[in-house]
Amino acid sequence: MNAYKLQPVAGRCLRGGVALCLALAATEIVDAPARAATVGILDPTTLSTTDGRQIYEQICQGCHMSGGRGAAGAGDYPALAKDPALASRQYVALTILMGRRNMPAFGAKHAKGFISAPLTLNEDQIASVINYVRTHFGNRYTDLITAAEIAALDQGTR
Ligand code: HEC
Repeated sequence: MNAYKLQPVAGRCLRGGVALCLALAATEIVDAPARAATVGILDPTTLSTTDGRQIYEQICQGCHMSGGRGAAGAGDYPALAKDPALASRQYVALTILMGRRNMPAFGAKHAKGFISAPLTLNEDQIASVINYVRTHFGNRYTDLITAAEIAALDQGTR
């Protein structure tokens, strides 16, 4: 299966938020039960990169938009550009690990799938996407986070 082809589906799904994800998932079940398991909605195999920019563009940007400008409308996706909340790298890490209200969790312990396994990010991937957003989009934080710190924070979560 070509991972590249799956991106538009995942992108649409993520951009539309949970409701659209469910709608897309439901359509897949009705239309092609056999295919549903492999269609790649939030398929963990679609993302193997540890490049922060690529992770942002392939996962986060679907909701937080390019340049981290955020979006308001059917759902509220906070801007990450010049976001003072990013001052705390631990806050960002816990948000990604555990999710926050309408933001899905990406930590393996917390992520929930719909039909297939959820898309999860490992500690290296979480650290690099955090370091990417905290040093781009007008954010200039110099205290980078490490994969070891992510792992330590995750220890404290159930
Ligand atoms: C499915 C949509 C979605 C995706 C994908 C998503 N987020 Fe979010 N994110 C949200 C929503 C919604 C919130 C607001 C949560 C709340 O109510 O506080 C949020 C909040 C955040 C916050 C807290 C911002 C603040 O000012 O408090 C950070 C940081 C963040 N997201 C980073 C990321 C990163 C990095 C990724 C990619 C790994 C990502 N998000 C992927 C929807 C998403």
